[in-house]
Amino acid sequence: MSAPGPATVPLPDVLAPLQADLAVVGEAWRRILADLSPETTSLLAEAGAFSGKRLRPALTCLGARLAGGRVEGDVATVAAIVELIHTATLVHDDVIDGASVRRRRPTLNARLGETAAVLVGDVLFSKAYRTASWLEDPFAARYLSDVVGEVLEGEILQDVVARSADLPLATYERIIRGKTAALYEASLRVGAHYGGASEQVEEDLARFGHHLGMAFQIVDDRLDLDGDEAEVGKSLGTDLAEGKTTLAVILWRDAAADRAAALSAIEAAWDDPIAARSLCRQLREGGALRQAHQRAEQEIAAAQQRLARLPDEPDRHLLETLARYTLDRSR
Ligand code: IPE
Ligand code: MG
Ligand code: MG
Ligand code: MG
Repeated sequence: MSAPGPATVPLPDVLAPLQADLAVVGEAWRRILADLSPETTSLLAEAGAFSGKRLRPALTCLGARLAGGRVEGDVATVAAIVELIHTATLVHDDVIDGASVRRRRPTLNARLGETAAVLVGDVLFSKAYRTASWLEDPFAARYLSDVVGEVLEGEILQDVVARSADLPLATYERIIRGKTAALYEASLRVGAHYGGASEQVEEDLARFGHHLGMAFQIVDDRLDLDGDEAEVGKSLGTDLAEGKTTLAVILWRDAAADRAAALSAIEAAWDDPIAARSLCRQLREGGALRQAHQRAEQEIAAAQQRLARLPDEPDRHLLETLARYTLDRSR
């Protein structure tokens, strides 16, 4: 376990041009949470809330800007709502995964226990729904409720199929579509919608978000097998330890000459850290990690194709850069 470092994760350089917009979103975030009790506020500070990469609200801002809108009023509010939902799912995710480090600091569940973490996640969901319900345009309230349902059903499916060494690729894809890509898609769609986009632009941005989210989770799953905890800043290796069969493992298994032996190696990795390390070495040396990365590259190519339909302007280039960052990121 790596020691937790500084409290805030610096904004990735690619987001520097969005600093002013994200500051406006930060004000919306603070307004939404202003009436929380001091006890809850201090728990949120412990969770390092609004101190992550803020990729999703950045996507909302860019979606709005590409639609011709500005990051103010309801656009800033929906960007903050997206980050509230994301933070709630992360706080709960760390309970589900038994993770002890996130954003380079101890998780709430590690510091204060699962009860505090479950309740803080619930409070964040409640603030997100409440805020959305007060917007004049009910789109966010209706749509984001469905999106949260999709995220949770992705997590449920992942839990139900845990410890299945023979997990079909299609089931893995359904899981990551739900738990990750749905909210990426939503981040762009609400930005586009509240920024005043045409239906076609909203759809193109939403599909871009979907593919970006799929790539993001594939890279996340690869980092869990192969990343450096100190660099990534969160607990890694939890997927295998929890019996989660992710893309590189699936590709390696399906290419194995001896499938029965491959299934046994995967099962051994769930309970034995030495077997897990040996499996990771085989994934690396056999090229499965690289193949998984190529799948992420394909998703990014599909995402870029959607963007190519939008007007050629600096904000579109920023989304293109963000998409490349998703592939290259080491945290
Ligand atoms: C969690 O996936 C996705 C959600 C937050 C719903 P992971 O469990 O892989 O996320 P990390 O690796 O802990 O960030
Ligand atoms: Mg996790
Ligand atoms: Mg998880
Ligand atoms: Mg992960």
